[in-house]
Formats: sequence, structure tokens, C-alpha cells
Amino acid sequence: MTALDFVPAEKAPIADTVALGTVTNNAVAASAVLVQQQQHRRLEGKVAIVTGGARGIGEAIVRAFVRQGARVVIADIDGAAGEALVAALGGACCSYVHCDVSVEADVERAVGCCVARHGRLDVLCNNAGVLGRQAPPAGNGARSGGIASLDATEFDRVLRVNTLGAALGMKHAARAMLQSRGGGGSIVSVASVAGVLGGMGPHAYTASKHALVGLTKNAACELGEHGIRVNCVSPFGVATPMLVNAWRHGADEEGGSPAPVSAEEVEKAEEMVRGMATLKGPTLRAGDIAEAALFLASDESRYISGHNLVVDGGATTSKNVIGL
Ligand SMILES: NC(=O)c1ccc[n+]([C@@H]2O[C@H](COP(=O)([O-])OP(=O)(O)OC[C@H]3O[C@@H](n4cnc5c(N)ncnc54)[C@H](O)[C@@H]3O)[C@@H](O)[C@H]2O)c1
Repeated sequence: MTALDFVPAEKAPIADTVALGTVTNNAVAASAVLVQQQQHRRLEGKVAIVTGGARGIGEAIVRAFVRQGARVVIADIDGAAGEALVAALGGACCSYVHCDVSVEADVERAVGCCVARHGRLDVLCNNAGVLGRQAPPAGNGARSGGIASLDATEFDRVLRVNTLGAALGMKHAARAMLQSRGGGGSIVSVASVAGVLGGMGPHAYTASKHALVGLTKNAACELGEHGIRVNCVSPFGVATPMLVNAWRHGADEEGGSPAPVSAEEVEKAEEMVRGMATLKGPTLRAGDIAEAALFLASDESRYISGHNLVVDGGATTSKNVIGL
């Protein structure tokens, strides 16, 4: 971010004198600052892939990246939602490719499509993720989500999408970035507070997000030599279809388009998150996560790598045990 981004229009130095000529000059200078502010877009000229970009947090990231000048490829399994977002944002800055991040051929093809269309890849946002089922199969009597009732197939599914999917994204994005003229690039994965603290999600989800934070550090260690930065963002609860479905069914919905989420369900989910939050006042929204991803994707964070930017209002850093 440049200093210009921090200059609110109303603070521009306009009428600090009563002399008419000076007022006019300052007004001209102020409008030049305003134009520069409007022209400076934080991802201007960059090409990005956002996995899981068709809805929820991923959609907010796609919108923020496009708003800031990037051309974005949405890589998702939900074709209807992905194409609808492309139609809303316009085909010049946005396209959709079907990609199941747990299938290497899909990930390779998505990166290939991006490079074929735009000639390069600057930013990969590994956002696609699944929560997995929390409840054990009906009637087995085990504690809900307990380790004693762990479903190995489900555990594997969650790790394949959340961890292997991100690793495959890093692999093919790194190859494309290394081949780009000038090299460099930024890889931003969406992890979770469940990758920082236990008890924030089902076992497989927690394991997958801890692994993703570790993978981020390792990949940053290796790719730094080539000017490629690797970071992650870890959100607290955001009332997306994933979170609303978790409260509806104790699980996310596998594949395809989930049942629509009503405004009432979003409000209930946000109320629950507000109740659990350390920081009182603001409600965490997908746009807040998009802002964090945007910062890590852009050159504003050019010396930040291997970092986990936790967006949780302090939920994982403290517990008010003594009643402060
Ligand atoms: N919502 C939250 O409270 C929250 C909190 C912490 C972390 N996260 C993480 O944020 C990311 C986005 O979550 P969300 O809440 O927006 O979820 P969501 O379910 O609303 O959206 C997920 C998107 O990923 C896509 N997707 C799912 N499986 C995929 C696959 N195999 N390949 C490609 N795309 C796939 C879906 O089609 C969808 O577009 C996830 O990684 C999630 O773990 C969410």
C-alpha cells in the first residue's frame, strides 16, 4: 500500500488559506491526489488463480482481486456459481475453470489454462476447503465427532482437499512462476484458526489446517530463493455456506451447489460468532478475509513470507481466565 491509499479525500489539503488563488491551486492538487488514488490499484497487471472462488470467502477474494486490477481465474467444482460470478464481474477480468483441487490433473490444467490465457501467473490463492463431517455414523453410540469413531475415508477426503489440494496448487503455481519472465510471485492459502488451536473444528479439519500452516512455512523456505513468497490467512468464523451448513447438519455438503443460505441463517451464525469473539463490535465478514489475502498477494507485503496472518480479533491469542 502506498501513502496515497491512506489519504482520505476529506483530509486532502484543500482550503487551508483564504487566498482565492491558493484555494484553487490546492483544489487542483487535491483532485490530482484523488485521481491517483482512484488509478492506483493494488494488483494492477497481475494474474491470479483463486481456488474455491465461486462462493463464500473465495468469492470475496475474487471480487477484491478484480477490483484491485487483477485478472482472475476461478478454479472450482461448482460450475453454476463460478460461471454466475464471471457473468457478474465480466469475462475480460475473470474466467472459470472446473478444478477439483484434490485431483492433480485438474490443478495442472487450471494453471495451464491461466498461463495460456494470460501468459503468466503472479498469485495463487489456495482457498478451496471442506469442513468434513463432525458426526459419527448414526447409531454407533460414540461421542459426536470423537476420535473413537473416526471415519478413515472422511479423514482422507478432508486432507486431500484442504492439504494435498493446496500442496498441488503450490507445486504447479511454483512451476509456472519459475517460468515467468522475472520470476517471483505470491502464494496465499486460506488456513483457519483450527490450524492454530485445537477444539475449533472436527479432527480431520484441524489436522488438515495445521498441516497447511506447516506446509506454508516449508514452501516459503524453499521458494524464497526464487522470489516467491508463501503465506497463509487464518480466519475465525465467517457466515459462509460452509459455516451455516455446519450448524444445519453438523457437516458441509459434499460437492456441487449447497442449498441456499437465508439471511436469517447468516444473521444467526454471525450472532453466534460474535458471542464467541474476543473482540467485540465488528462482525467478521468474508470481505475482511479478502482484505488480508489482498495484502499478502500484493507487493505491499513484499518482505513477508512464511507468515500466518490470523484474522480472529484475538480469539486464539488470549483467554480471559482472571476476568480482566
Ligand atoms: N467460513 C469460515 O468460518 C471459515 C473459517 C476458517 C477457515 N475457512 C476456510 O476458508 C476457505 C473457504 O471457506 P468458505 O467458508 O468460503 O466455504 P464454502 O463452502 O462457502 O466455499 C468453499 C468453496 O470451495 C469450493 N470447493 C470445495 N471443494 C473443492 C474442491 N475439491 N476443489 C475446488 N473447489 C472446491 C466450493 O465449491 C466453494 O466454492 C476454506 O479453506 C475454509 O476451510 C472458513
